[in-house]
Amino acid sequence: MSNPIVEQINSALEDAEKTLAAAQNEAEVEEVRIRILGRKGLLPSLSGGMGALSPEERKEAGMAFNTGRERFQSFMDSALKRIKASARGNGGRQLDLTLPGRRRELGRKHPVVTVIDEAVAIFRRLGFIVADGPEIEDVYHNFDALNTAQSHPSRDVADTFYFADGRLLRSQTSTVQIRTMESHEPPVRIVAPGRCFRRDTPDATHSMNFHQIEGLLIDHEVSMADLKSILQMFAAEMFGPEVKIRLRPHFFPFTEPSVEYDFSCIMCGGRGCNVCKQSGWLEIAGAGEVDPNVLKNVGYDPEIWTGYAFGMGIERIAMLRYRINDIRLLYENDVRFLEQF
Ligand code: DAH
Repeated sequence: MSNPIVEQINSALEDAEKTLAAAQNEAEVEEVRIRILGRKGLLPSLSGGMGALSPEERKEAGMAFNTGRERFQSFMDSALKRIKASARGNGGRQLDLTLPGRRRELGRKHPVVTVIDEAVAIFRRLGFIVADGPEIEDVYHNFDALNTAQSHPSRDVADTFYFADGRLLRSQTSTVQIRTMESHEPPVRIVAPGRCFRRDTPDATHSMNFHQIEGLLIDHEVSMADLKSILQMFAAEMFGPEVKIRLRPHFFPFTEPSVEYDFSCIMCGGRGCNVCKQSGWLEIAGAGEVDPNVLKNVGYDPEIWTGYAFGMGIERIAMLRYRINDIRLLYENDVRFLEQF
């Protein structure tokens, strides 16, 4: 025997269960609540028809009202709980697709990296390939093999970082000259950019870590004229065709003869200014003809092979290039500084 009120309640419950399980927000739940429980909703209006039922049917319908209300309430509760939980997973906020996106800052190259990349590109065009060596070195590769006497001041514990086991942080990229020649037969034509370390007190022009780019060419009858021409080509490519270079006699243990080389001042064109201290010249780095002792140390015959080597400071070039007046700015990771390049 069917009871129309009980049937309507049951089918409304079935409906509500489905709708609530799919509800996306609180407003949808509220809509269903009004439809079922609201003043003009299904249950109140059904209860108006109770009078037309037999006592038996009325009892049945009464029970259906009670359990119906309870079950309906529990469908609503779990729908609301689910909606709140997913909003929390969303940072507690409802997703607002109309908000503009958050912009992601793009990184860019550090000026030191830019200069390394450009210097390497220039030397590549001149026929050099890139070589590499470790930053943690042994005394042999940093000093002895480079013909640097035990008494040389750069070997002092106050000038270089030593480990307890006697190894050290390389103080120059000249170590890569040795590493390359040890593992390759001549001829050699390499550049080696990399990080170096010295126990310098930091100031506007000194940093405990910095970068150099080393060059080494070993072949037959390599002269100082070859060295000068390659440095001239580099200067022209790096700073412009009007830049001149000059070599000044100097001493380095691993080259003989040795020179320091200067570029005509890129700020004043050589007329004299405060950057070049009125001299018209900027000191860039050291170079020379590879000392026969260095060749012997790596097993090359100095009667057959000759070569030149050079090394320059990357930061020095970056500072001239970008008019940076304090080397420490390059290492502070201040985005306001770095985003200018
Ligand atoms: N290694 C030297 C320095 O750190 C620079 C240098 C000088 C490199 C002469 C060379 C060279 O290859 O031939 O001061």
